[in-house]
Amino acid sequence: MTKPIRKAVLPVAGLGTRVLPGTKMVPKELLNVVDRPILAYTVAEARAAGIEHFVFVTGRGKQAIEDYFDHHVELEAQLAAKGKTGQLDELLAELPRPGEMSFVRQMQPLGLGHAVWCARDVVGDEPFAVLLPDDIVDGETSCLKQLVDAFGQTGGNLVAVEEVPHQETRKYGVIDPAGRDGRLISMKGMVEKPSPDQAPSNLAIIGRYILQPEIFDLLSAQEKGAGGEIQLTDSMAKLMTRQPFHAYAYDGVRYDCGDKIGLLRANVALALKRPDLGAAARRAIEDLLG
Ligand code: UTP
Repeated sequence: MTKPIRKAVLPVAGLGTRVLPGTKMVPKELLNVVDRPILAYTVAEARAAGIEHFVFVTGRGKQAIEDYFDHHVELEAQLAAKGKTGQLDELLAELPRPGEMSFVRQMQPLGLGHAVWCARDVVGDEPFAVLLPDDIVDGETSCLKQLVDAFGQTGGNLVAVEEVPHQETRKYGVIDPAGRDGRLISMKGMVEKPSPDQAPSNLAIIGRYILQPEIFDLLSAQEKGAGGEIQLTDSMAKLMTRQPFHAYAYDGVRYDCGDKIGLLRANVALALKRPDLGAAARRAIEDLLG
């Protein structure tokens, strides 16, 4: 029997330099896609996978994230006074239940591995999910739910992967696959940001993981890897020698919202899909394209 995945860690302490200058004042995770922050999509995906507790790893200048998930008393009163009950109900429905979210501080952006390690005391001794909120994954079934379902068969640890162009392996953690059964892939290894000639495959790890708590012991060594950062991939590669580790080729489309063009694509694609906005969005895009 595997323990259920109840908690999710969402590292949000990065500097977001690829989408400057907007991220000077607004955390990258709160940049809007259509009409809500990037982070709202990730939280919805995690909820659909049964996550009950969210652990945000924040840093300086990220207080607005905590405030986003709180009541905005004046705004709510105004909406009620003006009879905008639909909008008010929508805002209230998206609020977390009291106590459902924890915020821990990374203090220095030393890398993703370090950010995840900062959540160790809140996660405790149970398997947990990690979601990088700058990836929005759109699909019929929540990407994390797909991983959780696969975890029900495999136990151990899992990462979501997708095929990327060979020349782009340097941007990702890349797995060394050993065999494949449908979407489930067994692995021999993984490496962070390999150059295309060193990459063992073009199957890149995207920002969705299920990890066993033993990862924290490995992360506590705080060894620096690619780019001088404490990399999650390096500790996962070590954990793989001791515990079952699978990759899962998820079904869906990923938008890298930490990148200018990725953010633009997400806005266009998700506006086109919205029943209330799709037709108007299409007209606007066609108009721009002349
Ligand atoms: P990125 O690699 O996108 O880094 O981090 P970044 O700093 O946010 O953005 P750029 O590259 O400067 O534009 C992936 C995820 O890991 C988090 C980020 O917030 C993001 O969600 N992260 C990264 C941390 O929380 N702490 C870190 O030290 C590094």
